[in-house]
Amino acid sequence: MFHSLTRKWFFVGTPALLLIVLSGTFFLFRGLPTPASAHNAPAPTTLGAAAALKGRTFGAAMTSNVLSDTQYSNVLSTEFTGTTPGNEMKWDTTEPTRNTFNFAPADAIVSFAQSHHMTVRGHTLVWHSQLAGWVSSITTGSDLLQAMKNHIAGEAGHFKGKVVSWDVVNEAFNEDGTRRASPFEQLIGDNYIAEAFKATHVADPHALLCYNDYNIEGINAKSDAVYAMVKDFKAHGVPIGCVGFQSHFIVGQLPTDIQANLQRFAQLGVTVQITELDIRMPVPASSADLQQQATDYKNVVAACLAVARCNNITTWGVYDGDSWIPQFFPGYGAALLFDENFQKKPAYNAVFQTLIGHK
Ligand code: XIL
Repeated sequence: MFHSLTRKWFFVGTPALLLIVLSGTFFLFRGLPTPASAHNAPAPTTLGAAAALKGRTFGAAMTSNVLSDTQYSNVLSTEFTGTTPGNEMKWDTTEPTRNTFNFAPADAIVSFAQSHHMTVRGHTLVWHSQLAGWVSSITTGSDLLQAMKNHIAGEAGHFKGKVVSWDVVNEAFNEDGTRRASPFEQLIGDNYIAEAFKATHVADPHALLCYNDYNIEGINAKSDAVYAMVKDFKAHGVPIGCVGFQSHFIVGQLPTDIQANLQRFAQLGVTVQITELDIRMPVPASSADLQQQATDYKNVVAACLAVARCNNITTWGVYDGDSWIPQFFPGYGAALLFDENFQKKPAYNAVFQTLIGHK
């Protein structure tokens, strides 16, 4: 194509060519801006800036107790353009007794984010875990439905306009694709999920509403079940806008079909997001595992970049010193992009290079 074009120009003749050269020289002397592709915008030096060039947010989960840690908050606000409260928006914190709300810890995170121009993912309104104790004493479906709607109205209402998205329902499926036997499922039935999305939409009509889960990153029985639910919601006008893929991986054991899976969800018309990314390994970490982790991280980021509707990648923590992994998976750790001393790991460089488009 280029070849034939050159030849054509050659035969069109010298006058046309001369005109182009001359006008180029003219613009050069006038000091007009050079074409956009060659502009002088500074090259990105952070994950957030690199992701922004690709139209994505690069976030990290945080907790309110790190706000006093200046090194932590510096790295967080410099490198990341989004955050997710690790615990502060969960039901046991926000509504510890029925109809008594406590938003102070989450408010602190929201104001930190706002003052650093970071977006906030709301996490999470309805989940079987970190649920306030009083909820389990409810005995009827109608009472629980009322409590759930009141919780959503109170919390999503409070953060209206301050969060870009909500993980409305978290982890509602089992590995085999059946519904998890949460209190919500047992008392209300399958329909609680649609009810939660509708209630959140009423409370905050502009927020992007997500279903969020783990082990749904590849194509399997669990992701098939979520896919069927999303398809059904889209067909029936349930206001789902997004699926969050938690992405808690083990080094060297990532599904190979992440991109295809993200793509099939995107084709249903929802945004897809990598919401809680970490890649754990046995500790102390070997250099081979750290290299494999870099490759794994690169593959996740590349999968997201390859899917137009994938607009957010969030790691579950900033550095290996504040990850949930060592506590929940004994013997494992080193799952994030910065090490225990806030030094950039090979995975950091792999992510950064992938974001700026280098192989
Ligand atoms: C984790 C937090 O990071 C921990 O501090 C807490 O003790 C347990 O929960 N999936 C989720 C997150 O959706 O909310 C979990 O966060 C990690 C797994």
